[in-house]
Amino acid sequence: MGNVTENIVMERLNELRTQIRHHDYCYYVRTMPEISDAGYDRLIRELEALEARYPELATPDSPTQRVSGEPLEGFTQVTHAVPMLSLANTYSKAELKEFDDRVYKLLGHRNYEYVVELKIDGVAVALVYEEGLFVRGSTRGDGVRGDDITANLRTIHSIPLRLRKPKSIALPPLLEVRGEAYLSRAGFERLNQEREDEGQPLFANPRNAAAGSLKLLNSKLAAQRPLNIFVYGAVTAGLADTHFRSLDLLEEMGFRVNPHRKLLPNVAKVVEYCDSWEDSREQLEYETDGMVIKINLYSQHEQLGATAKSPRWAISYKFPARQATTKLQDIKLQVGRTGAITPVAILEPVELSGSTISKATLHNEDEISRKDIRIGDRVIIEKGGEIIPKVVAVITSLRTGGEKVFQIPDSCPVCGGKVERPPEEVASRCTNPLCPAQVVGSILHFSSKNAMDIEGLGPALVEQLVGNRLIADYADLYSLRQEDLAALERMGGKSARNVIEALERSKSRPFSALLFGLGIRHVGVVAAEKLADLFGAIEALADASVIKLQEISEVGPVMAKSTSGFFRDPQTFRIIEKLRQAGVKLAADTSIPVDTRFQDKTFVFTGELTDFTRSQAEGLVKQWGGKTSSSVSRKTDFVVTG
Ligand code: IVH
Repeated sequence: MGNVTENIVMERLNELRTQIRHHDYCYYVRTMPEISDAGYDRLIRELEALEARYPELATPDSPTQRVSGEPLEGFTQVTHAVPMLSLANTYSKAELKEFDDRVYKLLGHRNYEYVVELKIDGVAVALVYEEGLFVRGSTRGDGVRGDDITANLRTIHSIPLRLRKPKSIALPPLLEVRGEAYLSRAGFERLNQEREDEGQPLFANPRNAAAGSLKLLNSKLAAQRPLNIFVYGAVTAGLADTHFRSLDLLEEMGFRVNPHRKLLPNVAKVVEYCDSWEDSREQLEYETDGMVIKINLYSQHEQLGATAKSPRWAISYKFPARQATTKLQDIKLQVGRTGAITPVAILEPVELSGSTISKATLHNEDEISRKDIRIGDRVIIEKGGEIIPKVVAVITSLRTGGEKVFQIPDSCPVCGGKVERPPEEVASRCTNPLCPAQVVGSILHFSSKNAMDIEGLGPALVEQLVGNRLIADYADLYSLRQEDLAALERMGGKSARNVIEALERSKSRPFSALLFGLGIRHVGVVAAEKLADLFGAIEALADASVIKLQEISEVGPVMAKSTSGFFRDPQTFRIIEKLRQAGVKLAADTSIPVDTRFQDKTFVFTGELTDFTRSQAEGLVKQWGGKTSSSVSRKTDFVVTG
């Protein structure tokens, strides 16, 4: 190649690399792209073509060089120029104030400021730049020596391969920064979905997924992992006098620095800022497990120094943990009021978010096989919004081989009845309607707050009542006498009287509450209210066909079928008669026809109505003493066409 051609090619290569670097920075660091994907691809393709044609002009910092060639045999070790310490943790505001007191004592004055940042839940990495070029990246390891994971880190687009020069200072010849490589929540979900599709074991959380991805020996594979980074500090001295200013400079150099950072004048403001993140962190695209609080002035870092493990100029404030690790000792089965069998994990007790956890839900058998949960496994449990924690994952690497695969049995663990799994359902069910677990469950549901709200009727008492054959269903509750209750173990005369009074009070619960309490499958509180409003009385609802039920906007085909099926069951008929005898409300208060203008008149509605839905119009007719029918006959008094 002649000198002239070489110069022209070099010029174009430089131009392309500069442009692509700029667009990478806009896209990956500032997340504000300036050109279209197609425009970007055109630049990349031109650069790739030129580099392929003139391989001698290719450079390691070219944007095309993010993925290296051959997989590694293993990682080489890197000794960190400055040890990678960790942070001392605090878990309460009081401990934060103690930290502040220590700083005050050591410095001898209150003339200091704090920088507060999010503590990103990922993997600590060190990045080394020589003359502005990324030369080495490593894991923390034991703090002194870590693994050289340069090839994998190069695949992270938000790690600059070449630094930009900040306006106010020259680039230091040698620069080492520290940061946290992580996977976003969405990236983690996507990765696990792919792994599930391919039948590979799932990662327990984004942090494990990030750690696993950085330790891949083949950087082509690492490049496919949605890794990202936030850089949170420089170890090279002399960039600036303060940490806050350093972060701005690092950002100017092209590093991705977390935007949620604040310079605060005192510990009270620090506590306030930490508090403000406790809930809002859930809205972030990535996971944080706390906040990091650092003294701003570097000269004060020097003064404060470090212990063997952690600096005295920084501390982390951890949010209450929502995950814990423990051993799954057994899987027990719970039979619900509809016969649904729910597996429950029995755990070695462990502390989580301030309480001791010994049980967790496993949802259903599909979930157990999807997560490959075995008895004896070490598992990760998590407390989300729900009260009962769930098992999120198994730590398969800790298996000993003695773990047992779990299978739902063919017969009900409570009554021995046949267990079946209806097609298209996720749960197996006990098919015996007289199963004591179902009976107890349905009685507890009947007495629950949103249903008949019968205070004092807890699981232990209901089990005793059913076990002693004092009652066989919830309608029997109303035939209980005070002396029946008082004769039971652990029941005094006073408690017995309270229960009888609560039962009496429940008779004035509204019709909608009773309807919910009947425990018709798929009929929740809202649907029960709707049905009570529209039908006004139990007979009208019992007469409704599946088709008619489905016409109601809130009632889908599944609910329509189960409601109709419930009232076709002879057992239901007997229960309702008992309830009628007891004097509970089997009709809505409004259905007592104060206005009897349609007394004994039968209406048929056809077509669409303009001011009501058809069900609403039918409800009104019933409220005013009339009847409705779906077809015209000799009994019809009025036909209302839409
Ligand atoms: S500063 C001397 N700032 O938390 C250590 N660390 O034990 C100085 N981390 O694994 C660390 N976000 O990787 C610092 N904004 C942040 C951080 C952060 C996450 C990690 C760090 C280390 C752990 C501290």
